[in-house]
Amino acid sequence: MKGYKYLDENGTFCLEDPELTGYLYFPIANEKGVMASITPTLAGDNKMGQNTFLLAPVSSEELHDKRGTRNFWVNIKGKGLWSVTGASAWQEAELFGKEKDKTVLTAGMMWQTLKRTSKKNGIEAEVTSFVPLAETLEIMMVTLRALEDELTVTPTAAIPLYGRSADNIRDHRHVTSLLHRMETVEEGIILNPTLTFDERGHRKNEVIYGVAGGASAFTLESEETKKTELPIGFYPVIEDFIGEGGSLTNPKALLFEEEPVKKGFTRDGYETLGGLAYNTCTLKKGEEKTYLVVFGYAQSKEDFLNQARPYLSKERCEKALEETKQYWLEKLNIKYHTGSKDFDRWMQWVDFQPILRRIYGCSFLPHHDYGKGGRGWRDLWQDCLALLIMNPDGVREMLWANYGGVRADGSNATIIGTKQGEFIADRNNITRVWMDHGVWPFLTTRLYIMQTGDTGLLFKESTYFKDLQAVRGEEKDLLWKAEDGNLLKTKEKEDYKGTILEHVLIQLLTAFYDVGEHNHMRLRGADWNDALDMAKDRGESVAFSALYGQNLVQLGEMLLHLKAEGMEKVSLLEEVFLLLNEDRNIYENTEAKISLLHDYCDKVRHTVSGIKKEITLTELAENLIGKGNWIKEHIRNTEWVNSKEGYSWYNSYYDNNGRRVEGDHEQGLRMMLTGQVFAIMSGIAKDEQVTEIAAAADKYLYAPELGGYKLNTNFHELKTDLGRMFGFAYGSKENGAVFAHMAVMYANALYQRNFAEEGYKVINSLYSHLSDFTKSRIYPGIPEYIGDNGRGLYHYLTGSASWLLLTVLTEIFGIKGDYGSLLLEPKLVKEQFDEEGKAAVSFVFQGKNFTVTYENKERKEVGDYRILEAFLEEEQLMLPEGRFLLSKEVIEKLDNSQHKITVRLA
Ligand code: G1P
Repeated sequence: MKGYKYLDENGTFCLEDPELTGYLYFPIANEKGVMASITPTLAGDNKMGQNTFLLAPVSSEELHDKRGTRNFWVNIKGKGLWSVTGASAWQEAELFGKEKDKTVLTAGMMWQTLKRTSKKNGIEAEVTSFVPLAETLEIMMVTLRALEDELTVTPTAAIPLYGRSADNIRDHRHVTSLLHRMETVEEGIILNPTLTFDERGHRKNEVIYGVAGGASAFTLESEETKKTELPIGFYPVIEDFIGEGGSLTNPKALLFEEEPVKKGFTRDGYETLGGLAYNTCTLKKGEEKTYLVVFGYAQSKEDFLNQARPYLSKERCEKALEETKQYWLEKLNIKYHTGSKDFDRWMQWVDFQPILRRIYGCSFLPHHDYGKGGRGWRDLWQDCLALLIMNPDGVREMLWANYGGVRADGSNATIIGTKQGEFIADRNNITRVWMDHGVWPFLTTRLYIMQTGDTGLLFKESTYFKDLQAVRGEEKDLLWKAEDGNLLKTKEKEDYKGTILEHVLIQLLTAFYDVGEHNHMRLRGADWNDALDMAKDRGESVAFSALYGQNLVQLGEMLLHLKAEGMEKVSLLEEVFLLLNEDRNIYENTEAKISLLHDYCDKVRHTVSGIKKEITLTELAENLIGKGNWIKEHIRNTEWVNSKEGYSWYNSYYDNNGRRVEGDHEQGLRMMLTGQVFAIMSGIAKDEQVTEIAAAADKYLYAPELGGYKLNTNFHELKTDLGRMFGFAYGSKENGAVFAHMAVMYANALYQRNFAEEGYKVINSLYSHLSDFTKSRIYPGIPEYIGDNGRGLYHYLTGSASWLLLTVLTEIFGIKGDYGSLLLEPKLVKEQFDEEGKAAVSFVFQGKNFTVTYENKERKEVGDYRILEAFLEEEQLMLPEGRFLLSKEVIEKLDNSQHKITVRLA
């Protein structure tokens, strides 16, 4: 098997015999809400939400076991039936034999083309699939070409239209087909279900589904494309199309050349087929004919036809395809140039992934078969990391709006609405609290402030979320009623607003006191690792306590920066001062901490006073830094683990029996990556300890054949006092797979601490594995994890893409924001420079376009080079303290052209 080949700088690639690899899928979508997945045989699905699936929902296993696909049949005179997508019983039977069709897939952002050639049948077909930008449609452009003289073909599109909620894939599958009302019109078939049966109850249906077709030919005589022909008939009923005993890959109606029905046909209560019969045509060698199949969603029959009709022309489809390609490429405004061209192209796909997750949420691609759409709280914030860098417009509003999800007790709403800043109370009254949730907002906000210098965001006011939950999910506010709404109120029943700074403080400070018996923060429902969900009573997350510690210190430092700029005081809600207690005896005493936290939570249970009190920035900053450092010291003093084999690292967790999780164990040594990442990132691990941790990770977690660092060693135990992850097979998902997100954060932490070679090893192991298609068996990009057989799983919709983009840009290329000024701190290793010793990156910073080129003429290794001199265009710049810094003021004066920064390393 060969891998894919890139065709251009944008990452467009082609792959031969794509259908000889299982589980491949590709996303095509738009910002109007159409989300489709498509495989090399044009299987997959298409939906606009949990209750609106045009093509039936598929999980990864259904990619190969479902016969209903976007099929397109051609009855070839003298040869028989042939499927352009390969989905016929006989083409499937030939798949591993000599007679297999020749296939090539070409794909770029949001479009794919499958080319299939059958020598035996003298035909070549090309199918391009995409979702146009402005309509709720998917388009299939099918071009048939004659390889021999006199190819007489009768084509038929045959796409089953599911037209209902994902719930009905088994629940009431048949009964919901009784709701179907289908009708044939001149251009195609309209499906208008009477009702919908799903979790919302039985309701009148409001979505119309439809398929329409057209064709235009290129003949040698006229040398121009003829005007559109419409279908000559229809096969709208699946039952009639497949016939008794037949199937969608062996349809009797086509085998026995049964007459299609005409327009004006209706049938009630049957499963619908988007079956379009096209006129028979004869092509000479070199001639071709393009068939258009357009399917989608609308509010009415007219609405569907109005959307679809223009696309029944080949020219219009070609134009729309170009517009679609252009639109998505323009979103990718970071261009890399390193010693590996393929890496640079691969990164285009990584950069595209956060856009995909914004559109698809975490539920709407085949491996992502959980949830009903939407994203979780932590995903929301982490996806912002990438948006902030690629498309900073609107990020300020987004961050501000997201803070509206914080509760006064420091926990947050977990159901996120579709509109920005919309948070919904949990209908099922589930009170799961993830202990890491409070840590991500500041991390993202800090990056935003560093990039832009917009410290003003901290002082913008926002509301707080309010519902029945109180005391961080442990108690209720029995005075609250749904009619009260979801905004926190003061005693006077007015909506309470506090600054973003206050929101952050509440998140960090409540966490400070929310500790278990070892004085680390309680694990509660889980932390970043969602599958550590069985230690809610006595579990503790040392790993995320470390990150909270770092946040407290960094927020303190930010306040000192503001003080240096002349700001003196801030106002905070009176109750918050309770959390600013600085009594060291309380820090050391877990019961005292819990009791203080309870007092606070009790005070803000139903309403807040609304009274604000001032505090000086210096006082507040010192308080926070003191607390952060206390956490760091405490972990440093208590959690360093030494193994009998002589390796050392930090413990990450305590289980529900209050036992330390890592270290030597009768079932074998136990080590987890998560604790290492945050001990390193937060600076808890001293430099010598980072070296020791890296050695332990290399010894116990490194699996080069699987792309690098595993999340944990094999515990050989169904550890029900820690989490469901131990029920997963070892080496899969959160149980010891190479989990890309944590692996990338490990690299990020190493780079931050100037362990560039170690960091590079992490990124390069991942990249080398993933870009080797024969091993990873996924298209370019980064998946959630790599399975024990080397396959990449849960492609596209993963937080690891945001972190990788961030790591490559801000750590490897060292393009950093410093309160709106641009700081360069390259950490590229020798092999990342090209043969001339150059590496470059283009990006947008403060709304200005830059290309930074590093010149490492002597090809020195990272650590051996430093910045010698730097130029903005031709002008040499001063380097304060040997660092490159382009001040905010200078940047503001630059015009909108592409600015070249050249940095000589020596
Ligand atoms: C997924 C979830 C993320 C969670 C992680 C570990 O990661 O989206 O919220 O923290 O699993 O359980 P992702 O695939 O986004 O990298």
